[in-house]
Amino acid sequence: MSESNHILSASQFFEEGAVASIFEKAGDFKRMERRRQDYPPALQHRVVATLFYEASTRTRPSFEAAAQRLGGTVVSTENAGVFSSAVKGETLEDTIRTVEGYVDAIVLRYHEEGGAKRAANVASVPLINAGDGAGEHPTQALLDLFTLREHKAAVDGLKVGVVGDLKYGRTVHSLVGLLRNLHEVEIVAVAPEGLQLPDEYAGGKMDRANDLAAVIGDLDVIYMTRIQKERFACSEEYEALKDTFVLDSALMKFAKPDAVVMHPLPRNNEIATEIDDDPRVIPFQQARNGLFVRMALLDSLIGRSAAGSL
Ligand code: NCD
Repeated sequence: MSESNHILSASQFFEEGAVASIFEKAGDFKRMERRRQDYPPALQHRVVATLFYEASTRTRPSFEAAAQRLGGTVVSTENAGVFSSAVKGETLEDTIRTVEGYVDAIVLRYHEEGGAKRAANVASVPLINAGDGAGEHPTQALLDLFTLREHKAAVDGLKVGVVGDLKYGRTVHSLVGLLRNLHEVEIVAVAPEGLQLPDEYAGGKMDRANDLAAVIGDLDVIYMTRIQKERFACSEEYEALKDTFVLDSALMKFAKPDAVVMHPLPRNNEIATEIDDDPRVIPFQQARNGLFVRMALLDSLIGRSAAGSL
């Protein structure tokens, strides 16, 4: 299977045409929802497997709802590391080679970087990376950009702060590349020492900071992220860093009146609940758009009219 039939990395969308077709479809689905129209049964007789070796509140349910809303069905393995044969010592590769025989596409979240690539190497059905350890989360980056474009008529020229755990945070790894390759944006990477964005994702020169208060007034987009507790070898280190950045009403006073605050969720304390009603704070809109973007992705990959690649 050609690489383009899998979604492994945001780099597959570093070209406007690739995102435009997905976003157009996602926009259509969102309009249908708003008008209470029935969705087309594009995934009728198609079965999607969701194999998740890590927790998920948004990605798995939204992929499953996406498949089902288009008339498809789902085979779901939540906590695959415990409930699948991984517990009996089965390899990821053998699991994929088994499951692919039953379904038309596999959505995989794996706890190790490179897991999606390993799976894709043996998969003969489209494999979608729903997060591979501290690697990437390409479909999150797509829904983030889709949501940002709803809020900002022009993304070019924006100053985007990505804030938090940029070392382990896979959503930022995918988003930064997507933004930089599709738009003329300035990225400011705001992280505690030791959790800065790795060079492989920074893609050249980038402004770096460690104090959100010092830069917030310049930012058009404030993309907050959680310190990734599960990636730390030592819990003391996590405890020391977990509340480094807390965006609360006091700090929001310094943000631009037309700034947007984003977060892939789940949040811990990075966005204080006291600012949830501030119209600039849009994480739940991102989560909602995940449904439409994932409907578009599934339709493009395995829908009845899909050519078989994006
Ligand atoms: C993120 C993830 O799993 O990487 N969640 C998500 O998919 N929206 C972010 C996180 O866990 O911090």
